[in-house]
Amino acid sequence: MQENTQKSAGNHKENYAGKCIESKKNYPSSDAQKTLEGKSILVTGGAGFIGSHLVDRLLKNNAVTVLDNFSSGKKEFLERHLQNPNFSLITADLLDYAALEKAVSGKDMVFHLAANPDVKLGAENTRVHLEQNVLATYNILEAMRKTGVRRIAFTSTSTVYGEAAVVPTPEDYGPLLPISLYGASKLSCEALISSYCHTFEMQSWIYRFANIVGERGTHGVLVDFIRKLRQNPHELEILGSGKQSKSYLEVKDCVKAMIYAVENSGEPTNVFNIGSRDAIDVTRIADIVAEKMGLVGVNYRYTGGVNGRGWKGDVMIMMLSIDKIERLGWKPELGSEGAIEMAVEALLKDQAAR
Ligand SMILES: NC(=O)c1ccc[n+]([C@@H]2O[C@H](COP(=O)([O-])OP(=O)(O)OC[C@H]3O[C@@H](n4cnc5c(N)ncnc54)[C@H](O)[C@@H]3O)[C@@H](O)[C@H]2O)c1
Repeated sequence: MQENTQKSAGNHKENYAGKCIESKKNYPSSDAQKTLEGKSILVTGGAGFIGSHLVDRLLKNNAVTVLDNFSSGKKEFLERHLQNPNFSLITADLLDYAALEKAVSGKDMVFHLAANPDVKLGAENTRVHLEQNVLATYNILEAMRKTGVRRIAFTSTSTVYGEAAVVPTPEDYGPLLPISLYGASKLSCEALISSYCHTFEMQSWIYRFANIVGERGTHGVLVDFIRKLRQNPHELEILGSGKQSKSYLEVKDCVKAMIYAVENSGEPTNVFNIGSRDAIDVTRIADIVAEKMGLVGVNYRYTGGVNGRGWKGDVMIMMLSIDKIERLGWKPELGSEGAIEMAVEALLKDQAAR
């Protein structure tokens, strides 16, 4: 591993001699190009929760460069790879275009995960998602266009659907009317990616995630509940009515789906919902967290929020149709409740170890 250098593409040729694929000549991709093996891959946000799990998986048979500004990501999530010659780490911000172009250059593919994922924040700060999500994605696309890198996978979100009238919500549901600035920013990113693919013969995979949970989680309802219950094991503040019902997916299932989609679909732009087949409400999540922490008789104090929502921009019901990716051959191993249980256990262990 070398920090702030561009060595992985070079290493890639040495370490995977004979396996390198010329990714710039054929379009759409051949099967060999689609296989994530022997490739040189840039993962933005690779020090984050989902990104670090993706890096674990991709490094099994690819050279991986992570670009991250460590705003929420953690070096310890990548610790085990720091000595791996197929791994490089660049500490940089996506808004630093020169650093980004250097990082993108020579790669076979980009997994673009870096973003500000805090949905609540948009109600207080109206610029953050525009800059960190939309402008950052524009920078990535420009860097790819200028350096001839043509394949991008992007982590979008269920929030692009807003308050969908159809649940489970399929990928072709419309009109897409997000109710949070975060959802709006991700939908803008999707639009930019699709139009770049069309205009500059690039190829993309857009994942609309349900809520992803698991080991190394640093934000979201589980982290919030565990933190609050550690501070006060007798009472738990629950944002909203507790009846918000959403679909959850375990992070390793999520990473498998991301890779599966790239390896098994070949349209210029491939959009997939990624989630589980069911949903769980916030009060049930609180029950699971309290139980796993060995607490009984916890008093739940509901804030009522905004008409039962946790915050402005929170949706009451979210469940995605995953028929499209299931038809392709991927299935989640765990449902929402199983994912929550496994994630709480992992997070309690994570925190105990720190
Ligand atoms: N976790 C979920 O449930 C969920 C659901 C839907 C979509 N997503 C999307 O998946 C992606 C990963 O989410 P996560 O939960 O792992 O979040 P995370 O905050 O753990 O990861 C984001 C990473 O990006 C880095 N980063 C942020 N802004 C950056 C910038 N300007 N330049 C460089 N690096 C930057 C952070 O340091 C962090 O490592 C995000 O795009 C998020 O919007 C997540």
